[in-house]
Amino acid sequence: MIRFLHQQREVALENVRADTSVLDYLREYRGLTGTKEGCASGDCGACTVVVAKAAESGLEYTPINACIAPLGSLHGTELISVEDLRDGDNWHPVQKAMIECHASQCGFCTPGFVMSLFALYHATTDVDAVVDREEILEALGGNLCRCTGYRPIIDAAEQALAENAKDQFSRRAQATLDQLRALQDTESETAALETEHGHYYRPRDAAHVASLLAEHPDARLVAGGTDLFLESTQALTPLAVLIDIAAVPGLHAVKVGKDELSFGAAVTHRAAQDAVLKDYPELQELIQRFGSLQIRSQGTIAGNIANASPIGDWPPVFLALGGSIELHSKSGIREISIDDFFLDYRKTLREPGEFIATAKLPRRQARIFLRAYKISKRFEDDISSVCAVFALEVDKDRIVSAKAAFGGMAAIPKRGKAVESALTGINLLTDNIEAAIAAVSIDFQPITDARASADYRLIVAQRLLERLQQEYRGDTATRVHGESELIARVSSHA
Ligand SMILES: Cc1cc2nc3c(=O)[nH]c(=O)nc-3n(C[C@H](O)[C@H](O)[C@H](O)COP(=O)(O)OP(=O)(O)OC[C@H]3O[C@@H](n4cnc5c(N)ncnc54)[C@H](O)[C@@H]3O)c2cc1C
Ligand code: FES
Ligand code: FES
Repeated sequence: MIRFLHQQREVALENVRADTSVLDYLREYRGLTGTKEGCASGDCGACTVVVAKAAESGLEYTPINACIAPLGSLHGTELISVEDLRDGDNWHPVQKAMIECHASQCGFCTPGFVMSLFALYHATTDVDAVVDREEILEALGGNLCRCTGYRPIIDAAEQALAENAKDQFSRRAQATLDQLRALQDTESETAALETEHGHYYRPRDAAHVASLLAEHPDARLVAGGTDLFLESTQALTPLAVLIDIAAVPGLHAVKVGKDELSFGAAVTHRAAQDAVLKDYPELQELIQRFGSLQIRSQGTIAGNIANASPIGDWPPVFLALGGSIELHSKSGIREISIDDFFLDYRKTLREPGEFIATAKLPRRQARIFLRAYKISKRFEDDISSVCAVFALEVDKDRIVSAKAAFGGMAAIPKRGKAVESALTGINLLTDNIEAAIAAVSIDFQPITDARASADYRLIVAQRLLERLQQEYRGDTATRVHGESELIARVSSHA
């Protein structure tokens, strides 16, 4: 059985299909049709709802895409949808501002925008905190509007956030926290959802995940569901037996050790961000452009690696920085270098019965020059056409060793060994980089698909090497964060 709060009441569910999404629950089971279905693939944000969780510091409000969020993941949380915001006769401040700023026309996208703004409204517990425009843009990056235009929506955000008064959710925060903590203690060891078609399991520790995987060879692991649930919503493939790895409290740990950063399998991109950026501030743009805030709040690093997509953004980072993963199963634990993990298109070294329990990155090495580039059609919420991550060990401007990892260039995320050897020995200030540029076509013969042509991919990867050298030399390059700011932050952490 799963239990969660919704509309100030405890909801207990048991006899529901494992692959039911939060959106299906709201619209089909509850008839709450305020939350819209646009794309059913996490891209448009029309289905955005907010999930409140009990954290040590208080309630944490997280925006998620209900269309690809498993219903079973709601256990122990409060589900908040657009119907819940009105306080008696009064609109919520974000709704009021949307009306007053004329930020809605057909209205289809509006509930999603309202919920993203509601999450931002609660992003800080400090009523005096000022939310800047960048944060507003980040909060709205996963919401599409086809008719109003974004300016009035941003105006509405600024108006609502300037108010920053306590809303009904803040007023009853302590009571909600107490209820959620009590609910978390009701986690059952058996299947959380169960029908004649299958089960949704919420194991409590890694050993339990391993034993469930051994007992149910056909089960699918689910963490955020941001890849997996597309199989259900887009390909209409039933997901009969699911094991929710994010239910394991111990797998939410981010550990900053002397030699490595380690991320449990349930650590979302958003939860990993601070630790990663402290050591590797150069990854800011890549992380900021990973999906949307909804996706970053839901999806995990381990899920991204396990999914083994050739266009995933974390694998090139792990390949260039020398990351590793820990695979657990009933037969034990093995740690393998990410270099050995990807075998062929969507094929990995992971054996049946194994799961990624931890993903690890080494702590920052001195003298490393790091750059990560994501090339995609849209700036926000888009998959890479090409992703390139370069980690160069440099001594007196000469490259002592090089790692160059690419996504979108082959059937798997892959290092360019010919590029790396051509880079090694180059003086970045005085030598040219032509041999490394030529080596790209030795390492890669990319394909043409809906995102980009083979030629485009090749040329882009080559030009990124040129950009790498330009940035080392301090030449100007177009970036979200100016190069000087980037370098200042890099050197303060090196
Ligand atoms: C709108 C949208 C935008 C996106 N943008 C990006 C982007 O910019 N860059 C990018 O790289 N990706 C992107 N993605 C893809 C996706 O969000 C990521 O790959 C995400 O990290 C997957 O993590 P998850 O926890 O949601 O995985 P899930 O969907 O839960 O699982 C993915 C797969 O891995 C398996 N799995 C999950 N956890 C484990 C584990 N611990 N051990 C073994 N197997 C496991 C599952 O069974 C499943 O097959 C996007 C997706 C959407 C819908
Ligand atoms: S319906 Fe488009 S993101 Fe969910
Ligand atoms: S108001 Fe019509 S899509 Fe936004």
